[in-house]
Amino acid sequence: MLKIGHRGAKGYEPENTLIAFEKAIHLGVDGIELDVHLSSDNELIVIHDETVDRTTNGKGKVNQLSLKELKALKIENTAEIPTLTEVFDLVNQLCFINIELKGIGTPKPVIQLISRYISEKNWDYNHFLISSFDWKMLEETHSLDPKIKIGVLTEESIDSALAFAKKINAFAINPYYKLLSKENVILMQQKGFEIYPWTVNSENAIQKIKTFNVNGIISDFPDRIFF
Ligand code: G3P
Ligand code: CA
Repeated sequence: MLKIGHRGAKGYEPENTLIAFEKAIHLGVDGIELDVHLSSDNELIVIHDETVDRTTNGKGKVNQLSLKELKALKIENTAEIPTLTEVFDLVNQLCFINIELKGIGTPKPVIQLISRYISEKNWDYNHFLISSFDWKMLEETHSLDPKIKIGVLTEESIDSALAFAKKINAFAINPYYKLLSKENVILMQQKGFEIYPWTVNSENAIQKIKTFNVNGIISDFPDRIFF
């Protein structure tokens, strides 16, 4: 069962920062999860929200700020917002990267960046998993590169996620963990999909989800997955 650090290791370090990704790697994760948006000058930026207001000392929409403006902001007084390239270079193939497409327009530049790391830096497709709640962006991602591994996110319906996963030949289904039962996990796995629920944090919830034999767990506290 894979340990996947949510937004790095959000339970221990500021989410979606290089420090959080480094922490997750030190905790022995198999993968890290992160969120991407585009800046006004089309750089891939690792941040969860549409705006910088909650996590930084700045204000405004990510897609209306330039890379330079975003880099000038501080997260909890010290860290800065990373670019996706900076995260790839930090991770350096030590674990896989589950990239959640949040911002409009992210599929093409994400696929271009991944292609560059595969062709020039010896990474392979197993180093990446692309997710989104926006299934149109997942369709676009699949058509840009059918070999890319896709994890279909759902917080509402296992049935529709399963139908969509079949349609785009996804690798995984990443459901909100409370949607899961032993039976629906078996059903999805029988159809050929890996199951990576999120965001499973309490020890009780982790123990329960483990009994469903999921393929991995996305957690703010990835070190709790094997206590
Ligand atoms: O990818 C799983 C999880 O991160 C989805 O929800 O809101 O934390 O991005 P959120
Ligand atoms: Ca996410």
